[in-house]
Amino acid sequence: MIRLIFASTALKDWNAEELLGLLKTCRTNNSARDITGALIYLHRTFFQILEGDEQAVDETFEKIQKDTRHKDVTQIERKPIAERDFPYWSMGFEKLDERDLNTFKDFPHFFDKEFTPAGIAAHRGIIDPLVNLLRVKLIKHVSVTKHEELPIDHEDSFIQFLHRTIRTGVKFLAMLMTFVILLGIVDVIYVIYEKMTTPPFLLMTTDEILDTFGAFLAVLIAIEIFLNITLYIRSDVIPVKLVVATALMAVARKVIVFDYKHLPYEYVGATALVVVALGITYWLIQKKE
Ligand SMILES: Cc1cc2nc3c(=O)[nH]c(=O)nc-3n(C[C@H](O)[C@H](O)[C@H](O)COP(=O)(O)O)c2cc1C
Repeated sequence: MIRLIFASTALKDWNAEELLGLLKTCRTNNSARDITGALIYLHRTFFQILEGDEQAVDETFEKIQKDTRHKDVTQIERKPIAERDFPYWSMGFEKLDERDLNTFKDFPHFFDKEFTPAGIAAHRGIIDPLVNLLRVKLIKHVSVTKHEELPIDHEDSFIQFLHRTIRTGVKFLAMLMTFVILLGIVDVIYVIYEKMTTPPFLLMTTDEILDTFGAFLAVLIAIEIFLNITLYIRSDVIPVKLVVATALMAVARKVIVFDYKHLPYEYVGATALVVVALGITYWLIQKKE
């Protein structure tokens, strides 16, 4: 097997739809030839890694070189490999964000000015860290915590529209949750005020203190739910650990304010079971990470 890396310059700016079209071709053709790899598109520069059987990779690269949609196709590396870096991707695609680019401290401003076929060929030290970053980013997508995703760049434009709509809905939920948190804080203040102003003034009974705790914990749970929602927007992934932690907190809140004198024992027993189940679930997720 070999790994071939090349860079090239697009003749024009490519939009998401055009890139998805290219990826579709890559994935269909590469799967058929057992070629894997990854592609970056940034500032009109393509950077692609192809790995697989020598003949298959060379023939694909020949075809790519003849493609009139790009120019300056420059082979950066071609070397034998024992195993693939991108075994799960017929063509992985990644966007590099600011945070990614900041990890290349040894190459300041490289991605602003020199991320071109000639620039990459002249700075070969960038290749391994770049390949590694791509690998890590792609692996994150298929990690054990992967769930239903809502990619903004789905290949079907209608599904893409639906995903956008859902994302907007999630943002609206986050906004509503902020409102609920503010209301919760007002409630805490009111509960404290009420308890302190009913006789005996400035003193709270144990029950009243528990009521106050309940109001506090309700706000904390609201904040956890807010975090769940915002994390969902940022990562496209349902943060299972956080959801379980929130549920645990919500049940624990109930336990703290339990009025044991008036609760049936079945209710207390069932709650205990839920706490144990959630605790084990949380522990298992933690262990897996
Ligand atoms: C930057 C770039 C990367 C490409 N990568 C691949 C690739 O990995 N595999 C592939 O089959 N075609 C790739 N292509 C497309 C080929 O140049 C060509 O259009 C395609 O293989 C033709 O497919 P067809 O023979 O099925 O029509 C790439 C094109 C560009 C511009």
